[in-house]
Amino acid sequence: MKRVALITGGTKGIGRAIATTLAQKGYNLILTYSTDHKSAEDTAVALLKDYKVETRLLQADITMPDSIGQIDKYIEDYDLRIDALILNAGITCRDTFEEITLKDWERVFFANVHFPVFLLQKIIGKINAGGSVVFTGSLMGIEPHSVSLAYGVSKTAVHSLVKNLVKFLVPYDLRVNAVAPGFVDTEWQKTKPAEIRKNIESKIAVGRFCKPEEIGNVFLMLIENTYFNGEVVVVDGGYLYK
Ligand SMILES: NC(=O)c1ccc[n+]([C@@H]2O[C@H](COP(=O)([O-])OP(=O)(O)OC[C@H]3O[C@@H](n4cnc5c(N)ncnc54)[C@H](OP(=O)(O)O)[C@@H]3O)[C@@H](O)[C@H]2O)c1
Repeated sequence: MKRVALITGGTKGIGRAIATTLAQKGYNLILTYSTDHKSAEDTAVALLKDYKVETRLLQADITMPDSIGQIDKYIEDYDLRIDALILNAGITCRDTFEEITLKDWERVFFANVHFPVFLLQKIIGKINAGGSVVFTGSLMGIEPHSVSLAYGVSKTAVHSLVKNLVKFLVPYDLRVNAVAPGFVDTEWQKTKPAEIRKNIESKIAVGRFCKPEEIGNVFLMLIENTYFNGEVVVVDGGYLYK
């Protein structure tokens, strides 16, 4: 029977790259997304055409608590089992320290930290023993810069969550890890002005942004190498070493 991976924010950017890497390995996919149906459909069509895998799409906004029950119900209704849960979707808020409101701070924390915790709690019984959970963390949770306080702190929490969860997941025979990407060339980064992108590149030892597929491979390694547990793997091209 084919293994199944559920990827939040799986229709674009890093999530889509993870989906593609796993599709190459024959995984069937459940990809969640927020609003862009067209991109989601395009991703599913491409994965079916290129790799002949079944791709299910589910609109489930990680800022909405109801999405947790919705994802659980979907898995239940279709009688699915999960082998790899990729908690990838995340949001930011770039308001300054002086401007950010409690509401916006809580929104970022809900989406990046609370949502994955309570989704995992809800669906843990539907993940097969021997399976794995992988979060998308961020270099900003390790080497913060001044763009988003809420984002950086929430990603540090994601990294801590991974380490804290290890022992809680032992009874389920599940492993948990995170990938902490530096700067990956997705829509998230492409909206940055050219000058800022240049400045970032000047700090990366390899001199360029990461290609999404270079991140996808790292997720695959964490899913398939069963000795990784509680790790936060940084993939940043040598940021700060230049
Ligand atoms: N790109 C980077 O340099 C970088 C670096 C470090 C960490 N990260 C992390 O990587 C993850 C993915 O980022 P990305 O760069 O791949 O972003 P992206 O290219 O913008 O893709 C975002 C994906 O997440 C979905 N999504 C966005 N907001 C959502 C929401 N509120 N609820 C559910 N799904 C939502 C999108 O669906 P729609 O298209 O429908 O909106 C899309 O599938 C995030 O956790 C981010 O923090 C990114």
